[in-house]
Amino acid sequence: MLNIAVFASGNGSNLEVLLNTPFKNGKIALVVSNNPKAYALERAKNHQIPSIAIPRCDYPSQQAFEECILKHLKEHHIDCIVLAGFMLILSPFFIQHFPNKIINVHPSLIPAFCGEGFYGIKVHEAVLQYGVKVSGASVHFVNEIVDGGQIIAQKAVSISKQETPQSLQKKISALEHKLLPKGVQILINQTIQAKRK
Ligand code: GAR
Repeated sequence: MLNIAVFASGNGSNLEVLLNTPFKNGKIALVVSNNPKAYALERAKNHQIPSIAIPRCDYPSQQAFEECILKHLKEHHIDCIVLAGFMLILSPFFIQHFPNKIINVHPSLIPAFCGEGFYGIKVHEAVLQYGVKVSGASVHFVNEIVDGGQIIAQKAVSISKQETPQSLQKKISALEHKLLPKGVQILINQTIQAKRK
């Protein structure tokens, strides 16, 4: 059984879906948040899953912050990581500890409307401002390029004339809830294969 850590900064609706999904050969073993007020932490408690809040501002540097996260991941024997609404960018120092073992869900059709500064509702605002007619959700591997790793799964939605950032967020969130569990199972399968090599 692989141990999976889910990183979430806010509501945690994606986390909730993962907590309710039975995975083959893997389980959610830890929830990490940079935000002590994240509702995601509450969701973890409700499912009796260990959780920890590690605010970035408690640490003098990004590396010190990430070293603290790594220490907790080691304590919980974490094999792979899912970024599910984690609003901080992890540095190459952190990522190299989990090569091809971190996935992320992003609320647009990568490579559009992604990268630094594109997160949460800001993505949907930018999409509507540009006037594109479709958007969607992407699940991808995390490498040192922000939102630049290999795409695992993507789904599109069309944008209606009366669309608002909030209505688009709702539509795309529903897509994410379908895509992310599939992405997590692929992550588990690939991690197990890599272990065997
Ligand atoms: C999701 O839409 C996720 O794609 C997005 O934050 C939301 C979190 O929702 N992530 C990013 O924007 C990261 N770049 P949730 O807390 O309800 O799961």
